[in-house]
Amino acid sequence: MLYYCMVSIICNPTKNVMSLKSIWRPMNKQDLDTFVHLTYEIWPNHWESPKSLIARYHLYPNGFQIYEIDNMPSGYLMSHPGYLNCPPELNETYALDKGKPTCYHIHDAAIVKTARGNNAIKQVWPYILELATAYNIISLIAVDNTESFWSKLGFIPSNFQANYGTHMILKLNKNK
Ligand SMILES: CC(C)(COP(=O)(O)OP(=O)(O)OC[C@H]1O[C@@H](n2cnc3c(N)ncnc32)[C@H](O)[C@@H]1OP(=O)(O)O)[C@@H](O)C(=O)NCCC(=O)NCCS
Repeated sequence: MLYYCMVSIICNPTKNVMSLKSIWRPMNKQDLDTFVHLTYEIWPNHWESPKSLIARYHLYPNGFQIYEIDNMPSGYLMSHPGYLNCPPELNETYALDKGKPTCYHIHDAAIVKTARGNNAIKQVWPYILELATAYNIISLIAVDNTESFWSKLGFIPSNFQANYGTHMILKLNKNK
């Protein structure tokens, strides 16, 4: 599923207005090199191996999306079913080998610096909710002080102590 958004920017001092098209689209196998390079650009201090990143993609390709601005890859979503209170480690070759998944996990959602400020995550949020509905709860680990960013989408810190950030959860249907 594609999510489109038109973004207008003032691009030079003569105040010409240039229209840029931003889009979330499914990540496919041809995007994997680009995806790995984006992770290195965005996360110089949280290195994850290509092996673990690509294995995660093959685990659940639907949970992976590429964010493009005028066809330029500018961010990505990396998400998949998971087990509550048992989040993946960085660099882990993750497997769904503990029975039926108990949550939907956002492992990473990241935008290159130059493309931030366009509410990119809000654009892909309905898609994430669609994928997560079956699991009733979304988990993530907020790194680099992004707790307030995720709390605006409804996430709250959980009691689980993660070793590389703050474990946060969002319950989708409290009556279920
Ligand atoms: C966090 C991130 C994905 C948000 O990108 P985005 O969707 O383009 O967000 P925007 O820059 O348009 O900002 C949207 C809102 O979130 C806020 N925000 C952005 N980054 C934030 C951060 N790191 N911490 C807290 N709030 C943040 C903005 O102030 C803005 O608030 P407003 O709506 O009240 O004005 C992006 O900053 C990023 O990729 N950061 C580095 C990677 C990262 O930390 N990813 C999260 C992994 S847990």
